[in-house]
Amino acid sequence: MVYGLNREVRRFADLNELSASAAEDINRLIVRAVRLKSRFSLALSGGTTPRLLYRILGTTYRDKIPWKAVHFFWGDERYVPHDDKDSNYHMAKESLLEIIPVPVENVHPIPTTYAEPAEAAELYEKELRKFFDTTGDTFDLVLLGMGKEGHTASLFPESPALAETNRWALAVEVAANPPKRITLTYPVLNRADAVYFLISGQEKAEAIARVFDTSTYSHSCPAKGVNPSNGKVVWWIDSSIPDF
Ligand code: 6PG
Repeated sequence: MVYGLNREVRRFADLNELSASAAEDINRLIVRAVRLKSRFSLALSGGTTPRLLYRILGTTYRDKIPWKAVHFFWGDERYVPHDDKDSNYHMAKESLLEIIPVPVENVHPIPTTYAEPAEAAELYEKELRKFFDTTGDTFDLVLLGMGKEGHTASLFPESPALAETNRWALAVEVAANPPKRITLTYPVLNRADAVYFLISGQEKAEAIARVFDTSTYSHSCPAKGVNPSNGKVVWWIDSSIPDF
């Protein structure tokens, strides 16, 4: 179902079915992109929802996806050590990266060891700009989640980061634990070829309704502001979310 503004909604019975379908779709995207341009850039989401998807990609598709051509990035990171249980890198490493044959140089974690998070954000932005050079496009696929109040990555409601028009990565303090984060911004997210939101849990229903409500604004529901100018947005939603 397409909701204008190139937003598509795909509904599934539960998170298991959603994750299995998303894994197959991502497999197809990667195989096609690697055949055409020999590489695929994927920005991973944190949180808990994508964990099962990552596990399926790392097991069912371990020997099907050309992992040596896939480059992993993150949409945001908590400013904690990479071996911390709250680290998005740690979650992806455990559920996917350590079970697939991906070259270490293809994994681009957001640094979290600098005294100043702003320095880490600047360095990550430099890495992103170098990887994507000047083509204008960025990620082949960005995976995102959404909090119950409408945040995505670490872009939270009313955050000054929502008004950023140049920087691709910023250090932010958010109303969640841990509070110090590095987040990608709309300028880089909205140059992606595709963005997949993975949404499960009835606590997200109100925020989803606001995303698709034409009378609301992205500053109060940041997930609404992710609309790549030359890309597509697909909302992968399970049946715990009532119709909107
Ligand atoms: C993070 C994520 C964040 C997440 C949402 C949903 O660092 O926490 O990037 O944006 O996607 O908070 O999280 P759940 O999947 O756990 O509901």
